[in-house]
Amino acid sequence: MKEGGQIEMGIVRSNDEVAPDHRILAIELPPSFGDGQPGQFVMLRPGECRDPFLPRPFSIYTMDRDGESVHLYLLYRVVGKGTVLMASLRRGDTVMLLGPLGRGFDPPGEAEKAVLVAGGVGVAPLVCYAERARKTGSGRALEITAYVGARTEGILVGLDRLEALCDVLKVATDDGSRGYNGTVTELFRRDLDKFRPPGSVVKACGPKGMTDALRDIVEREGLYCQVSLEERMACGIGVCLGCAVRVKGDDAEPAYLRVCKDGPVFDMGVIYRDDR
Ligand SMILES: Cc1cc2nc3c(=O)[nH]c(=O)nc-3n(C[C@H](O)[C@H](O)[C@H](O)COP(=O)(O)OP(=O)(O)OC[C@H]3O[C@@H](n4cnc5c(N)ncnc54)[C@H](O)[C@@H]3O)c2cc1C
Ligand code: FES
Repeated sequence: MKEGGQIEMGIVRSNDEVAPDHRILAIELPPSFGDGQPGQFVMLRPGECRDPFLPRPFSIYTMDRDGESVHLYLLYRVVGKGTVLMASLRRGDTVMLLGPLGRGFDPPGEAEKAVLVAGGVGVAPLVCYAERARKTGSGRALEITAYVGARTEGILVGLDRLEALCDVLKVATDDGSRGYNGTVTELFRRDLDKFRPPGSVVKACGPKGMTDALRDIVEREGLYCQVSLEERMACGIGVCLGCAVRVKGDDAEPAYLRVCKDGPVFDMGVIYRDDR
C-alpha cells in the first residue's frame, strides 16, 4: 500500500452530527492531495490552532475527487480536547491536514468473501474498504459481509453506507437495543461456518477488547485477518516512536513496530499478545 503524506490546508464544507457525540467532517482539499487507500489516515489540526501537540489521527471514511478538488470525509467521535475543537468547526473554517499516511488494507485480490468486523467508529476505514472494493471492480465478484457493533443503537454509525455496499450487514449491541444482544465478535463467531478458509479475508477495526477477542477466533480458525490498530500518536510520521507496539519477533528480543508508519493496518498474526 502507498505511503507518504503532504501538508495541506482544507476548507470545511460541513460538520454534521450523525449520532450523539458522533460527526462527519467534510473537507475540501486541493487536487494535489494524494489518493488515500482504505485504512490510511490523516493527522488533522483544527482551525487556526497552533498547538503543536494537537494534530490527531483519523481514518479516511470516504474520499472522492472531481477536476478541481478532493473531498475527504472523516467520521469521528468526540472524546477530548482535539475532537471537541473539531466539533466546533463550521462551514468555511480551515483545517491543517497531513496525509494520507501509513499502510492501509490490502485489496481483496482473489478472495471470494470479505468479512468486515467493526466496533464503534472503527467502522470508518471499513466503509472506505467496501467502497473501494466496489469502485475498483476488484470486488465485483466479492461477497462482503459486515458485522458492526456498538454499546447501544443510538451510536451505531456508518450503517447506511454499509447497507448500500455490502451483501449482508449484521448488527450487535451490548444492551440488545438493536440486532444481536452481545458483542460483535460473538455475532461473527456464530457465523464462522460461512467463512472457512481459503477464500475469505477478514478486515477489522475497533477497540482493543474487540480486536483481542477477534484475534482468538481468527487464530483458532486459521482465517487471514488484517486489523487497523488505534494508538495515541504524536507525530504520525514515524519519528517520535510514541506509537510503537510490540510484535511477535523471531528471537527472544522484543520487536516493535510503529503504528503510524508500519501500520496502522497489520496482519493479525504479527500482533504480540501481552495478556497471556
Ligand atoms: C490510525 C488511527 C485512526 C483513527 N481513526 C479514527 C476515526 O476515524 N474516528 C475517530 O473518532 N477516532 C479515530 N481515531 C482515534 C482518534 O485519533 C482519537 O479519538 C483522538 O485522537 C482523540 O483526541 P482528543 O484530543 O479528542 O482526545 P484526548 O483528549 O487526546 O483523549 C481523550 C480520551 O480518548 C482516549 N484516546 C485518545 N486517543 C486514543 C486512541 N488513539 N485510541 C484509543 N483511545 C484514545 C484517551 O486515552 C482519553 O481517554 C484514530 C486513531 C488512530 C491511531
Ligand atoms: S506517532 Fe510518532 S512514531 Fe508514530
